[in-house]
Amino acid sequence: MTTMNKQWHLVSRPSGEPTPDNFKLVEAPVPELQDGQVLVRNHFMSLDPYMRGRMNEGKSYAQPQPLNAVMQGGTVGEVVASKSAAYQVGDKVVSGGGWQQYQLADAQAQAMMRKVDTTHVPLSAYLGAVGMPGVTAWVGLMTIIEPKAGETVVVSAASGAVGAVVGQLAKAQGCRVVGLAGGPDKCKAVTDEFGFDACIDYRQHPDLKSLSAALKEACPKGIDGYFENVGGLILDAVMHRANAFSRIAMCGMIAGYNGQPIPMAAPQLILVNRMKVQGFIVSEHMQHWPQALKELGMGVASGKLKYRETVAMGIEAAPQAFIGLLKGKNFGKQLVKLI
Ligand SMILES: NC(=O)c1ccc[n+]([C@@H]2O[C@H](COP(=O)([O-])OP(=O)(O)OC[C@H]3O[C@@H](n4cnc5c(N)ncnc54)[C@H](OP(=O)(O)O)[C@@H]3O)[C@@H](O)[C@H]2O)c1
Repeated sequence: MTTMNKQWHLVSRPSGEPTPDNFKLVEAPVPELQDGQVLVRNHFMSLDPYMRGRMNEGKSYAQPQPLNAVMQGGTVGEVVASKSAAYQVGDKVVSGGGWQQYQLADAQAQAMMRKVDTTHVPLSAYLGAVGMPGVTAWVGLMTIIEPKAGETVVVSAASGAVGAVVGQLAKAQGCRVVGLAGGPDKCKAVTDEFGFDACIDYRQHPDLKSLSAALKEACPKGIDGYFENVGGLILDAVMHRANAFSRIAMCGMIAGYNGQPIPMAAPQLILVNRMKVQGFIVSEHMQHWPQALKELGMGVASGKLKYRETVAMGIEAAPQAFIGLLKGKNFGKQLVKLI
């Protein structure tokens, strides 16, 4: 019997915010399985802010998402047919299956596909706290900020997939941890669920003076480490409270992903404060993945590492959920549940 596969293609490049017209839902039969291949039924798709950057043409750290091809992205699912000795039917895998229901893959060529154990860690967590976002948090915090007990670490997009993990790891290092998030519900979760010492609702502080004052109150000893997910006004306010020899892990600048200008108001503070400001891409730090995944997996399995998920239902929901992610409509890791 022929299995049909629904997949989302990018059919035009957004200018500014993406719109549903940029995507097209395509349905096609799954091709016949060849020797060495596996067929994976995707259970969850990951929606990530970086996908917006890939929709643009132009120079970046990764190739642009091709037009009229399935949207690329992380997935978790189950092997439903296999002609590869490496995978058996029933294996749960995390891979880059893209925005589609099924992924037909050459098992040997799938460097990013790996089996996962769902005994103590839910399958979906392998796209979040025990996946790429969790490792991103670990790499930026542990290898760039290198927090020491007693220091103050600030995290933007603090209720999100990356930010919530950063804060919990920094707390475990003995730091004072302050988050920034949009709205009272997210801020409450950041302190009450994720254990940050304080959280600032940046929407209540729309100008530099007000946000700097809020940071001053929340960080009485200044800021030693900043995990940057947003850019713009938040970065400027943090720079004004930064201590000498502070470190910034430049992870993301979502405030500018739809093309908004995000100038830096006072770059001279990098010099004045002898700061380290380092950008990083998690896939270029593969040497840290095994240790990070082990620690994050133990954290989730033991219940110590907390996370939130926002789950959109059905493949049809993907574009709207993605557009919402870029506006902060998600609360924690944005997923699409396929079955
Ligand atoms: N460098 C790497 O290798 C790497 C890897 C993964 C992720 N990242 C980056 O890490 C950041 C977080 O990713 P994530 O997957 O954890 O996403 P996320 O935090 O779960 O979701 C994105 C969040 O960003 C916040 N946001 C959106 N627009 C904003 C704006 N204009 N101003 C302030 N906040 C805004 C929203 O939270 P609020 O409602 O709280 O504003 C939204 O919920 C992103 O910048 C992403 O690109 C980088």
